[in-house]
Amino acid sequence: PRILLLNGPNLNMLGKREPAHYGHLSLAAIEQQLSESAKQKGIELECFQANSEEKLIERIHQSFRQVDFIIINPAAYTHTSVALRDALLAVAIPFVEVHLSNVHKREPFRHHSYFSDIAEGVICGLGAQGYEFALQYAVAHLPRINE
Ligand code: DQA
Repeated sequence: PRILLLNGPNLNMLGKREPAHYGHLSLAAIEQQLSESAKQKGIELECFQANSEEKLIERIHQSFRQVDFIIINPAAYTHTSVALRDALLAVAIPFVEVHLSNVHKREPFRHHSYFSDIAEGVICGLGAQGYEFALQYAVAHLPRINE
């Protein structure tokens, strides 16, 4: 089984960027930890981060019939991108939406997501651990996905 971890714009700045909201871990550290957890579960995790909508969309298209589950933090595109939403609908790969910060505690423009109503679930406000919880969920539900 293959799982894809997708991170959107500015998440390459994790660790340096607004640590009060996003914590002190770098994206590389998060990806490494998650890859390790996946490996222990016998799962192949691919990690991809991009700052542009185009690159994220292309990566989702490449995943068509290649990937069993997506864990995505669309970052600012959460609140703006119909195109990214449509890409996920196009490939029909189940996904969990993750946010490091609790977006509901923040500015009103962060309260709406173009993804939540089509996601298997949404995790927010639990920091980098949110990705681990999403992975656990994905692993538990993979057999059903492959039916
Ligand atoms: C974020 C929340 C978004 O509102 C913000 O634009 C981000 C990161 C989070 O992980 O908390 O870039 O998705």
